[in-house]
Amino acid sequence: MSRTTVFIARRVFADIVDRLRPHFEVRTHEGDAPLSPAELIAALQGCAGVFITGSERIDATLLDACPQLKAVCTMAVGYNNIDVAACTARGVVVTNAPGVLTETTADFGFALMMATARRICESERFLREGRWQHWGVDMFAGGDIHGATLGILGMGRIGQAIARRGRHGFDMTVAYHNRSHLAPEVEASLGATWMTLPDLLRTADHLVIVTPYTPETHHLVGAGQLKLMKPTATLTNIARGGVVDDAALAEALAAGTIMAAGLDVFEGEPTVHPALLALRNVVLTPHIASASVPTRRAMADLAIDNLLAALGVRPDAGRPPTALNPEVLS
Ligand code: DGY
Repeated sequence: MSRTTVFIARRVFADIVDRLRPHFEVRTHEGDAPLSPAELIAALQGCAGVFITGSERIDATLLDACPQLKAVCTMAVGYNNIDVAACTARGVVVTNAPGVLTETTADFGFALMMATARRICESERFLREGRWQHWGVDMFAGGDIHGATLGILGMGRIGQAIARRGRHGFDMTVAYHNRSHLAPEVEASLGATWMTLPDLLRTADHLVIVTPYTPETHHLVGAGQLKLMKPTATLTNIARGGVVDDAALAEALAAGTIMAAGLDVFEGEPTVHPALLALRNVVLTPHIASASVPTRRAMADLAIDNLLAALGVRPDAGRPPTALNPEVLS
């Protein structure tokens, strides 16, 4: 009898992929660049499961071209690259990787906010370029983190982990905007106050964006919203490109509407808006917020746990730990 076949759509830790081999025929794409949609469809022929990252697009066209597919397991927590409704309609279970990257991603968001407010990258470039002649009283003077108001847009797991760091590590006042309010005891433990988005923008000294990217959050922060912010404020985006209108942000940074930005995610990444690349008051990193070795391994491990369970391997057979559409399993 032929074995069930699964496809690993990206080079990933070999020892973690090996966990699949006793159970399935494993095909892999060993590149770091994602396959094109046509290449992915070709690679998935005959496959019951696929392991993906946040970059491979899973949509109705792909699903219709790959009728044997039963499980789509991403190692990312974000899943805006997957049409979950289309998967559900075809009985395909989708899993993501929440929880395991929360603290690492919050560490990075905080670091990016600090680098932005304290002008660390800009001053390092200045030093490396041999331009440091003497100490200056306001040389690379930025904004304070401690005691400032931290504004968090999107208060899920990662937002709350950033709030904890701000409140308990840096004595910050924490304000947030989210569709739903936190439970009063959680708000109290974080010292966090819910605000409307305009109020949050007016209030925050440092705005950190961690809201998922959906049709509702497309360009949630654009020119009109940036105008509400303080000229001394910073904006950090570790959510997804598209939540912020990058062209409007570049204009606001050039005009001094806000002081600086830290961006780990971009509209149309890996392409970055050229106007952002030309600015000195923006810190740019290549979507690495979850990139510690232990966390990336934990994300891959969770995706493999999901794939094993979704395709019937015990002890979790039929019960993937983090399914997004568990209704297809019943
Ligand atoms: C995530 O897990 O969503 C990270 O952004 C990596 O894609």
